[in-house]
Amino acid sequence: MKIIEPSLIHDWDKEPCGKEVTVSTKLYKDAKDFYESVDESLHDDTVMYEVYSVSSQSEPGKLNWGLTVMHPVKVNGECNMTRGHFHENMDCEEYYWCSKGTGLLMLMDEEGKCWCEKMYEGSLHHIRSDWAHRLINTGDTYLKVVACWPADAGHDYARIEHSGFTYRVYCEGKDIIVKERRTNE
Ligand code: F6R
Ligand code: ZN
Repeated sequence: MKIIEPSLIHDWDKEPCGKEVTVSTKLYKDAKDFYESVDESLHDDTVMYEVYSVSSQSEPGKLNWGLTVMHPVKVNGECNMTRGHFHENMDCEEYYWCSKGTGLLMLMDEEGKCWCEKMYEGSLHHIRSDWAHRLINTGDTYLKVVACWPADAGHDYARIEHSGFTYRVYCEGKDIIVKERRTNE
């Protein structure tokens, strides 16, 4: 029997490493429309978040692994957030595990009911297959979240654009302020 080295390493404090790992970076210029207003003090190339992933072929039964690193950026006081999505394949659930930082996991069901779970080091989140999900960094350090999801889940972003999350999250000092979105947005 052979005992071999793993092809991937994910030190809990770092990003996953191995030749199958890919990284995508979300810059402010591609995230402007997530926020209530444009922050002229932010450079277009400000890094908002990176997603490291190990992806399988999109087939039932296969799994993806990922790490999202949310930078501690505020957009006119509004906390940095991911675009957010439903899964295209509504049978596919997901786990999020927070390895660093503090934040909120915003969830929304198909009726548009929206709520958040607190995220902090060690918090584990089971995302039901029919819930939209978005990460929000409410801290002044990186928020790092490990995810595992089915390879055939896909991302439905359009549904969020048309009937998006109904709340916005801002930070004022240590206080987290939640505001309902304006209906004309
Ligand atoms: C995969 C998943 C995460 C997100 C990532 C970026 O199903 O939920 O890997 O894709 O946190 O968020 P989005 O894709 O919403 O920009
Ligand atoms: Zn997802």
